[in-house]
Amino acid sequence: MSDSIFITDVGPRDGLQNQPKILTVEQRLALIAAIAGAGVASIEVGSFVSPRAVPAMAGTDEVVKSLPAGDGTHYTALIPNLKGYELAREAGAASVTMVLYASEGMARKNVGMSMQAAEEATTEILARAREDDIEVIATISVAFACPFDGAIDPAVVSAVADRFMRLGADRVVIADTIGAADPQQVRALTADLVRDHGSERLGCHFHDTRAMGLANVFAAVESGIRRFDASIGGLGGCPFAPGASGNVATEDVVMMLEQMGFRTGIDLSDLLAASDLAEQLTGTAPGGRSKAWLKPWLAQQAAG
Ligand code: COA
Ligand code: ZN
Repeated sequence: MSDSIFITDVGPRDGLQNQPKILTVEQRLALIAAIAGAGVASIEVGSFVSPRAVPAMAGTDEVVKSLPAGDGTHYTALIPNLKGYELAREAGAASVTMVLYASEGMARKNVGMSMQAAEEATTEILARAREDDIEVIATISVAFACPFDGAIDPAVVSAVADRFMRLGADRVVIADTIGAADPQQVRALTADLVRDHGSERLGCHFHDTRAMGLANVFAAVESGIRRFDASIGGLGGCPFAPGASGNVATEDVVMMLEQMGFRTGIDLSDLLAASDLAEQLTGTAPGGRSKAWLKPWLAQQAAG
């Protein structure tokens, strides 16, 4: 098993979509640049959704158009439907992250579609993206529990993952949108998925609502997962999923995995500077337990 971990920071999307304070395009770009500057492999920079539904994500086309070309960072943008795909393509996105659902309740509340309709739209997007040479990441939301429909049968998630692996999604990400999963559930589901599909195209996305985010990352690592979403400063939460709080903080995930001997390619001092910027821009610091300990420790290392 590889000792390299590939982190996608979803703070500029998952983190900012739910903030009471709406950032300007320039502020969003500054946050993205700070995260990229820390060596984070991949960043989800925004979403092509209705600005009426999510005002904080208006202007994502400007964000995508202004991303630095060829800086070695992988950038993706979330899309909820075909219209989002077209907007992302017009803005020049090289990668899109399309949302699939493990429950009917969440599909309806989030995008007013059935699970089946979201799968059909994704199938169509995959076909178009192949022609347009755009990468498609398929994220299965509410993969463990849904705020509307309750517990999710892992067989439902496995079946969706199986279909989109076969259809050629570049990646399939298992998302605990409301942060309700426990490490045993995560270990069981991810072990089955890695056995069936290998780990190369699989990723996980955890929220820390019930303080199990890092434990869930660990459980997935043990199953062989090497791709994780995380959010700078632990910002995050879905406006359409009641009770969903922030993602597991990027700095916490990086500190834990590096201490365990994995390589993320991320510079922790620069990452903390990005976390400070996220805090300063949004006026909130919801997560990120490691920062309070890491800051003086890193200063001591630098001095010594
Ligand atoms: N981006 C921007 N605008 C979009 C869009 C997209 N991806 N998809 C649809 N729209 C526009 C339509 O053109 C229409 O505009 P109009 O009223 O000016 O004609 C309007 O949104 C309503 O479209 P409709 O198809 O009737 O859908 P809806 O009102 O049920 O809204 C979504 C559906 C998907 C557009 C909306 O719920 C949404 O953007 N949700 C975002 C969900 C999200 O971001 N969740 C968090 C991350 S998973
Ligand atoms: Zn999320």
